[in-house]
Amino acid sequence: MSDVPLQGLRVLLGVTGGIAAYKSADLVRRLRDAGADVRVVMTENATRFVGALTFQALSGHPVRTSLWDESAEAAMGHIELARWADLVLIAPASADVLAQLAAGRAEDLLGTLVLASKAPLAVAPAMNQQMWAHAAVQANLETLRQRGVRILGPASGSQACGDVGDGRLLEPAEIIEMLAAERGPRPFAGVRVLVSAGPTYEDIDPVRYIGNRSSGRMGFAVAAAAIEAGARVLLVAGPVDLPTPAGAARIDVRSARQMRDAIIGAAPEHDIFISAAAVGDYRPQSISPSKLKKSGQPLALELIQNPDILAEVSGLVGRPFLVGFAAETDDLEHQARDKLERKGLDMIAANRVSTTLGFERDENALLLLWAGGREELGQADKRSLARTLVDRIARRYAAGLAAP
Ligand code: C5P
Repeated sequence: MSDVPLQGLRVLLGVTGGIAAYKSADLVRRLRDAGADVRVVMTENATRFVGALTFQALSGHPVRTSLWDESAEAAMGHIELARWADLVLIAPASADVLAQLAAGRAEDLLGTLVLASKAPLAVAPAMNQQMWAHAAVQANLETLRQRGVRILGPASGSQACGDVGDGRLLEPAEIIEMLAAERGPRPFAGVRVLVSAGPTYEDIDPVRYIGNRSSGRMGFAVAAAAIEAGARVLLVAGPVDLPTPAGAARIDVRSARQMRDAIIGAAPEHDIFISAAAVGDYRPQSISPSKLKKSGQPLALELIQNPDILAEVSGLVGRPFLVGFAAETDDLEHQARDKLERKGLDMIAANRVSTTLGFERDENALLLLWAGGREELGQADKRSLARTLVDRIARRYAAGLAAP
């Protein structure tokens, strides 16, 4: 990505009332560093959290806070400002502004500008997790989404009010990255992508399980990259401690059989299935209802094989385009090509598991294989590797649509 990915983009930034408004100051600086020209409009409530002067200094332009400012109207009237914008970005977007936007009300300057502008609208919500979960907020969001408004985030984590959950404003750097990615090609626009990620846990008794060392980072990065490429993404995640990529729907599961049920249920509604989960191959034949005790003797666990989810999806009528992963310690290409053919996949991403790459690591390298082709994707951090992988999947997917 270039150093100035938003070069020349005219951003009208709306700042609404919420404690996250302090992050918008950093956002303005970063937008400008990325090449954008920024004009800031604050709601009256926002000015209670951060002073207009801060945004004026950072944006290099006067900040508007009211429809009824005669000198500002004389300089650049609000209709002119609405026409000027290439993008209207509201960050943070409070629950109240989402309601105002959904209803199409023009009761203040920001609401008026949104209605008066033809520019695309993106909102980065920020609010208490309970408010975020409220049916009224979710209904407003759905209205906006259906109207083509881009919803950026929110992130989850600890909140200013002490709660933990969804509703944090995305970090300014993430917002910039998403805007930049959207200016690039969007090969997955309108495509529905199902991604599985993380390990599975197979319970032995109420306190013990068999798991594996998958961190889920590769699959989560693939989900984020698919969203940037324009896809609607459902992420089925094993037990991992990772935030949901902004914009993804998520189902959490624990065992291989739970993952199977979620995937088989969702597969018919998806165009592409990227199976990045490290599904446990075996599970204990039975789960002990009480904690197993030491007996002084060796303990034999009877293990039975789990369903192969990917192979099962491959057998579905009208199955999605299938991308598997293969983590191998030896004989990588041969093993992976064998899996590609045996499981009836369209593409496989193979990675060598070692002490520096693969499981529990930030970096990875992949060997992509498909019928009649191969490509090495060199060592990189999982996020950039995921972007390249998604680009290659999109190409193979498009090639398949062109030549059914
Ligand atoms: O056979 P192997 O486990 O190496 O295959 C790896 C690929 O198959 C991965 O894409 C993984 O998500 C998928 N898989 C599966 N169900 C299993 C085992 C693996 O979907 N039970």
